[in-house]
Amino acid sequence: MCGIVGYIGTEQAAPILLDGLDKLEYRGYDSAGMAVYDGEKLQYAKARGRLKILRELTHDGAKLPGVCGIGHTRWATHGVPSDKNAHPHFNEAESIAVVHNGIIENYLKLKKMLAGKGYKFASETDTEVIAHLLDYYYKGDPMEAITKMMHRVEGSYALGILFRDHPGELYAVRKDSPLIAGRSAHGCLIASDVPAILKYTRDVYFIQNEEIVRMTDQELAFFTIDQDPIEKQATTIEWDVSAAEKAGYEHFMLKEIYEQPRAVLDTLNPRIREDRIEIEELGMTDEEIRAVKRLYIVACGSAYHTGVTAKYVFEGLARIPVEVDLASEFRYRNPILDEGTMVIVVSQSGETADTLAALRMAKEAGVRVLGIVNVVGSSIAREADNVMYTWAGPEIAVATTKAYSTQLIAEYLLAMRFAKARGTVTEEELAGMLLDLRRLPQQIELLLDHKEKLQRFANRYVAAKDVFFIGRGLDYAISLEGSLKLKEISYIHSEAYAAGELKHGTISLIEDGTLVAAVLTQEDLYKKTISNMVEVKTRGAFLLAVTNEGNTAVEKAADYVIYIPQTNKYFTNSLAVIPLQLFGYYVALGKGCDVDKPRNLAKSVTVE
Ligand code: AGP
Repeated sequence: MCGIVGYIGTEQAAPILLDGLDKLEYRGYDSAGMAVYDGEKLQYAKARGRLKILRELTHDGAKLPGVCGIGHTRWATHGVPSDKNAHPHFNEAESIAVVHNGIIENYLKLKKMLAGKGYKFASETDTEVIAHLLDYYYKGDPMEAITKMMHRVEGSYALGILFRDHPGELYAVRKDSPLIAGRSAHGCLIASDVPAILKYTRDVYFIQNEEIVRMTDQELAFFTIDQDPIEKQATTIEWDVSAAEKAGYEHFMLKEIYEQPRAVLDTLNPRIREDRIEIEELGMTDEEIRAVKRLYIVACGSAYHTGVTAKYVFEGLARIPVEVDLASEFRYRNPILDEGTMVIVVSQSGETADTLAALRMAKEAGVRVLGIVNVVGSSIAREADNVMYTWAGPEIAVATTKAYSTQLIAEYLLAMRFAKARGTVTEEELAGMLLDLRRLPQQIELLLDHKEKLQRFANRYVAAKDVFFIGRGLDYAISLEGSLKLKEISYIHSEAYAAGELKHGTISLIEDGTLVAAVLTQEDLYKKTISNMVEVKTRGAFLLAVTNEGNTAVEKAADYVIYIPQTNKYFTNSLAVIPLQLFGYYVALGKGCDVDKPRNLAKSVTVE
């Protein structure tokens, strides 16, 4: 995904655009660019690489004077990261400038049509097709050109558009890629996400699919694809801009690791009344819950890993069959979505293309869809039948931590609510579990105090070639997350394996000194996992064990042990994940990797 910003008002646009792009760089950072109307033409600057290069190129925007402009930070999809593929893109006369987040699926067909009419292309991107298509349809009326373009283009887009001949106006359009608008005392703004404009206004308009925004320095106007005016209500953003700042931490990721106790508390509190679980946003009666015969949990990446955890918790507590699917697989495997099926989609950003597509497929099949989402007003939040927000606050680091932890909390609460409705747990058991849930924030705090120990251990593995994470049951689920955390920010190859499965082939990769991290939080499986640890140890592995306080038996097989506080067996992933997050963070730090913006990644993958 990419980040787009736009500003029109009384202030110089370029510094405002750069500031906004800075807050959106987590969405993609292969290249960046801006176009500003300087009173006569559309001046622009764009360059491969991080935003700081654009800052240097434009002397922090001073070289692009003007009060109306658009900006872009890119995660490359069509066309390699390069100066010429950087946005904004233009028509040949450079009288139309476009920045784009999304994918134009029929761009080759359109490019062929336009080339046949004599259009020349300067880049390899899909976005440039939009600039020429707007030129093709433009006869003096921007709205007419925009709506005609919208009827031709297939795919996803959030667009910022400037027309040189309409210097007092800035246009934006949305289909499937997030877009917001806002008005401040000094003008109007558009952006891909709230942090980019929160400094200027808290009142934000979430643009819906196929809506058009026309902005002047004073006015925001909204239209349908048929150019009918529409009234929109602003949403007041409660969290403050510092929530999207590092606040003294070296990286957003470390800050967000440390925000987990608070995020867990904020996600728990609205749903626990005295000793009862209340999930009003679920919108289901006990009878409707009992009518659910099968659950699908569908997500990508770390959100998927929480689904693997949730499968054990739902099946263990509520005795309901659960299938966990990668969204990119679910949408193409023709799943059985029949009477009594319910789908839960999990997503931090609420914009992941595969997860959104899975949601739409489930809704088309007529089954109930619940979204577990962190970003308020996101596409998944709006399109699900019901949404259960994770109150983690804005998560900026590409590698998720606090959102992951709050997704687990939401899934525990749901499983307990289902178990209560289905009568598969007693009131006493539920009360005991609520106590354990309430203890988690403080127990996470305790584990965060081990960070120096983890840092010392992690520094021994900055040169590691392969790392394996093993566990059984819920310990396998958390191994998946521990492995992804390490590899996505340190670039060290790592795999998570069901501990009992390693000997069926992959154990051949174990060499002298290979690090194997074994997770043992399920008491009834301790012995089995210890025997798997011995299997790899006899083949030269170095064993790190993450286990419950009191399980000293593991010390006969492990070379290094991290103990986590006792909690309900279903909640152990919430604690075991803390040392695994810190391990991944400190290995990446020790390697000098860009922890918050790992190579090739983006915070939310809004393309297939
Ligand atoms: C997690 O650290 C990764 N950044 C990635 O796997 C992420 O969890 C996945 O892309 C899903 O994103 P979402 O939760 O915003 O849908």
